[in-house]
Amino acid sequence: MSFTVAIDGPAAAGKGTVSRAVAAHFGLAHLDTGLLYRAVGKRVLEGEEPVAAARALRAEDLDAPGLRTPAVAQAASRVAVIADVREALVDFQRAFARRAGGAVLDGRDIGTVICPEAEVKLFVTASAECRAERRFKELKESGHEAEFEGVLADVRARDARDSERATAPLKPAKDAVRIDTSDMTIDQAVACAISAVDSAR
Ligand code: C5P
Repeated sequence: MSFTVAIDGPAAAGKGTVSRAVAAHFGLAHLDTGLLYRAVGKRVLEGEEPVAAARALRAEDLDAPGLRTPAVAQAASRVAVIADVREALVDFQRAFARRAGGAVLDGRDIGTVICPEAEVKLFVTASAECRAERRFKELKESGHEAEFEGVLADVRARDARDSERATAPLKPAKDAVRIDTSDMTIDQAVACAISAVDSAR
């Protein structure tokens, strides 16, 4: 029997950290679905056509270097508005979700579109300022040039594109447990997520 945990939310809300921790705690496989869109975005920056790039995507592409840059993130959110790109990525995600040992998938539309039947749905969020602050620190710490105002504008631009698009916009599933991490430490957010999963098992 498969057991699926769907974790959605905006950029830099702590979704990735929470997802990895939940997967490790319960011994589940983990898929960061943002990597699919990033891999397509990267290929588009290299000159490929978005839908063809999405259809040609292979699991190995998710390990490609250079997927975590701000330029690729913006390219990802631009290809993510294209319905045929999203459609081309559905089967891969659903197959992953059905893994025998159970899986955690994190993204924007996992609980609403990809796995509406998931046993647990979490919506991990935080204020735009908090998220920009975290992204800004990460960029600084990894040696990137960054200005807070620019990072905040970036976060807001991606939020707008992700939540206003016609196909699979970012929004919580009706039955999602909402976790606002604005005033939480990482450990608190993780504990909150683990207890939500525990109560569904
Ligand atoms: O989560 P991450 O920042 O890596 O995602 C990059 C972009 O990919 C997002 O801004 C969003 O536009 C898109 N995405 C999506 N659906 C998902 C995961 C990511 O549209 N399930």
